[in-house]
Amino acid sequence: MLSALCRSVTDGGAAAVRRYQWERIQALLPAEFDAAWQAADGVPGWFDQRHAAAFTLALQSLPAEPTVVEIGSYLGRSAVFQAQILAALGRGGGITAIDPHTGDRQHLEMLGIEELPTWDMFCYFVRGLDPDGLVDMVRATSIEAAREWDGREIDLLYIDGWHSYDAVREDGEHWLPHLSADGIVVFDDYGYYADDVARAVDELAEAGLFTPWGVNARQMIGGRRSAPSAPLDQLLTIVDSSVMRRLASVKARISA
Ligand SMILES: C[S@@+](CC[C@H](N)C(=O)[O-])C[C@H]1O[C@@H](n2cnc3c(N)ncnc32)[C@H](O)[C@@H]1O
Repeated sequence: MLSALCRSVTDGGAAAVRRYQWERIQALLPAEFDAAWQAADGVPGWFDQRHAAAFTLALQSLPAEPTVVEIGSYLGRSAVFQAQILAALGRGGGITAIDPHTGDRQHLEMLGIEELPTWDMFCYFVRGLDPDGLVDMVRATSIEAAREWDGREIDLLYIDGWHSYDAVREDGEHWLPHLSADGIVVFDDYGYYADDVARAVDELAEAGLFTPWGVNARQMIGGRRSAPSAPLDQLLTIVDSSVMRRLASVKARISA
């Protein structure tokens, strides 16, 4: 009885904190955000509203017609959101969405299978929800696509492919050198796979391939510049406390 009461007080407190944090984030967002989010929210996947908020502020801070590269698209939730918000803000640009469509790590491990094809459903969702035709659908692994890349500078790089240490290191080593001078990188699940994703991301930062800025809803966000735009910086102060100590120690090692 007492433990149930304690749990409901804690859960209620956590929900209130999340609500308060979201109200602070909403104040930073353009009016176009809600419709873009509603369209993307119909696509199954992991990309959440806080991720969408950070991507909106990142895309707004970049020059018009940004070149976006997404590693790992699954059914297109994050690609559709980016296409929707870029179209709604009239910013144009293009999103190269790279995925072999062989299955996500969590799903394959949970089901104990080798492959889970997603290409057909991905195509349906993107064709139906990309109003300006901004998404270029590439069925390949990150490394295959990197070998074919035409050398264009990348303004926003989203790394959300295979979540192992080796794969994230390789993704970073192949793609980060293409980041533009104002370029931004987002690594998914920095706060989830500590021994895999976070270790690889920390090492990429320590190797000087990007500067870590902060963590939003378990995603590490950084870039070529030493600091983000003011609105993105404000969002990053609304913190995910569990990973802040880790981030502080990486920053200390980089500046040592
Ligand atoms: C977490 S899901 C991506 C989620 C997506 N960004 C979203 O918002 O819903 C990870 C995806 O990475 C893909 N993937 C697996 N290995 C890959 C590789 N070597 N290169 C690129 N993507 C890969 C999987 O097929 C899967 O669809």
